[in-house]
Amino acid sequence: MAEPLRVVVTGAAGQIAYSLLFSVAKGDVFGKDQPLELLLLDITPMMEVLNGVVMELMDCAIPLVKNLVATDDPNVAFKDVDAAFMVGAMPRKEGMERKDLLKANVKIFKAQGQAMEKLAKKSVKVVVVGNPANTNACILSKYAPSIPKENFSCMTRLDQNRAQAQIAAKLNVSTEKVSNIIIWGNHSSTQFPDVAHAKAEVQGKVVTVPEAVQDDNFLKNEFIKTVQQRGAAVIKARKLSSAMSAAKAACDHMRDWFIGTKGGNWVSMGVISDGSYGIKEGLMYSFPVTIENKKITIVQGLSINEFAREKMDATAKELEQELSDALAECVD
Ligand SMILES: NC(=O)c1ccc[n+]([C@@H]2O[C@H](COP(=O)([O-])OP(=O)(O)OC[C@H]3O[C@@H](n4cnc5c(N)ncnc54)[C@H](O)[C@@H]3O)[C@@H](O)[C@H]2O)c1
Repeated sequence: MAEPLRVVVTGAAGQIAYSLLFSVAKGDVFGKDQPLELLLLDITPMMEVLNGVVMELMDCAIPLVKNLVATDDPNVAFKDVDAAFMVGAMPRKEGMERKDLLKANVKIFKAQGQAMEKLAKKSVKVVVVGNPANTNACILSKYAPSIPKENFSCMTRLDQNRAQAQIAAKLNVSTEKVSNIIIWGNHSSTQFPDVAHAKAEVQGKVVTVPEAVQDDNFLKNEFIKTVQQRGAAVIKARKLSSAMSAAKAACDHMRDWFIGTKGGNWVSMGVISDGSYGIKEGLMYSFPVTIENKKITIVQGLSINEFAREKMDATAKELEQELSDALAECVD
């Protein structure tokens, strides 16, 4: 059997982690033959809850799990980790200004970045889920400068999965018949879910999604809005934010990173921009990517029409502002 992979999950006592830990533990992400050491980080007041999660994980009696560590100390949680799911973040409380939320999260991701810098493997693969996910990932990377920037990402896979499910429902086909939808930009309501290059298999024939749907008005309006506002719709209905679907998306994201994308298909991930598609270098922006041997490559050469350009730039602008506000909170 292979050496155990060390996997840290932050926000481990929270609701996303509750689903995520089970999927990771049973091999959905790193494979059914890959033993794991799971490091669970949360804050001190949550240690009792976290111990309950540890008890349940033990009680799942999953042979792949070789070690379980629950801690409130980043210096324990990030030691020698191979993969990091950064789920924990400061939630927006009633009456809290956006600026205060950013400030609180800068503090968290700075401290965790510094711990990673000291302790994590340089090859660690990091996905940030905790919001504002794109900017938190930038801050994390800033404070872990010896880890390659390409090893930091943020999650827009939930948005991709939501978009895929909407198109599949519209076409009355199974979700795996729809591929290559792109989420551009920020994991926020300015994101741009783009179907111009997406494909659908309908009655045994593969065509583009616009050809299959034959309803431009729907694709340019209702579809985009539904995906952009899906998170808010779930909160309204459930009185809690998306958790099961967010955990599934985090698993999809990390699994594709470790195992690779297939057959000319791409997936969307927030990665540090290298200037592709005119997006400012250094922004953590969601692009279509392919992955081979754990290396992420931004898909190049896609045609961008005026409608798409406008939407891609609007979400970039929001991210630039968010990052500049966050950087203003970094005192060093
Ligand atoms: N990117 C996405 O698509 C996406 C989707 C859904 C939710 N989210 C975000 O994911 C985050 C977690 O959501 P949730 O529903 O699990 O929230 P939750 O409140 O149930 O859990 C968050 C956990 O993080 C912990 N935490 C806070 N600060 C921490 C720190 N410094 N170190 C370690 N742990 C810390 C909290 O104590 C809590 O247990 C939120 O920020 C949410 O907005 C992102």
